[in-house]
Amino acid sequence: MSVEEVVELLKQLQLKEAQLEGSLADYLKDARVTGGVLSLVFELPRPGLEDLIRSKVYDALKDRFEKLEVRFLQKGTPVASSPAFTRKQVPGVKHLVAVGSGKGGVGKSTVAVNLALALSRLGYRVGLLDADVYGPSVPTLMGLKGARVEVDEARRLVPVEKEGIKVLSIGFMLPSEDTPVIWRGPMLMRALMDFLFNTAWGELDYLIMDLPPGTGDVQITLAQHAKLDGSLVVTTPQDVALADVKKAVNMFKEVGVPVLGVVENMAYFKCPSDGKAYYIFGKGKVEEFARSYGLPLLGSIPVDPELSRASDEGRPVVLYYPESESAKAFMSLARALVEKTS
Ligand SMILES: Nc1ncnc2c1ncn2[C@@H]1O[C@H](COP(=O)(O)OP(=O)(O)OP(=O)(O)O)[C@@H](O)[C@H]1O
Ligand SMILES: [Mg+2]
Repeated sequence: MSVEEVVELLKQLQLKEAQLEGSLADYLKDARVTGGVLSLVFELPRPGLEDLIRSKVYDALKDRFEKLEVRFLQKGTPVASSPAFTRKQVPGVKHLVAVGSGKGGVGKSTVAVNLALALSRLGYRVGLLDADVYGPSVPTLMGLKGARVEVDEARRLVPVEKEGIKVLSIGFMLPSEDTPVIWRGPMLMRALMDFLFNTAWGELDYLIMDLPPGTGDVQITLAQHAKLDGSLVVTTPQDVALADVKKAVNMFKEVGVPVLGVVENMAYFKCPSDGKAYYIFGKGKVEEFARSYGLPLLGSIPVDPELSRASDEGRPVVLYYPESESAKAFMSLARALVEKTS
């Protein structure tokens, strides 16, 4: 039974005995299925409803799962609030680096994937965490569409290994590619926490995280809970992107995540016929921006039609086209990151 089916079923369960309108689904805050275990979290409008809700859930679902876990929150429990000193190190992970941006579609995922592979080529042990819970693209980019996450005896998530790196994405948990991610707020946050703290990452030198675009809940939750080395902010040279990237840089500063540097994507186009670099969106703008914020420009990735095509096919350039201009740019970005974090 999928999470959606569980939610559908909970919609049928009324709470008239407790003089409550609506169904159990209205009070559901988190639902997930891992292995044969269904875990549900409800937010109660008032105390004293626990037994009623628990018995309804058990009656309806006990035959469908090996184990049911039902937990309760009282209304208004803050979900993600913890001061900086409670930030935890991800066990076994030396460097946790997030790849973010102000704007969508600037190439974060492309950068995150190729950076992870480039670090691996340099000999580091690398993990890749797709924290873009709204639009996970790592499965496509890594050629891992249809891969599924496993759970070990300790009920930890087991990342999927590909090309020598350990990969985890919400995409590995959804029944199909077209499933909308119905998880919102607290559910999302718990999923993310599991990705970080309840996953058998093993010993890693670098865990690279692909963030969703912008400055939302995911970024803030991460900053509050995990000890990060810092973030890389990806932008293209277009002015619009730059206006947004300022917001992203400021947001990371506000939540106390150091910005390690800026990555300029689609910086130029190297013409195959004359070998010259053309700065389609203008030259030097990102560098100037980085300087004005006292940040290093750690890499400039060219526009590369091959990169885009190869990515769609799940053949990352760093591995499949190591001689390409863009692959070389990712290798150089990886070296700059190593220097920055050592
Ligand atoms: N340097 C590049 N040259 C050519 N195409 C690129 C380059 N970088 C990214 N692309 C293409 O641009 C599109 C968006 O890239 P990507 O998915 O990495 O962006 P994103 O910032 O992660 O997007 P989202 O905000 O949706 O998560 C993809 O089709 C990708 O192949
Ligand atoms: Mg992306």
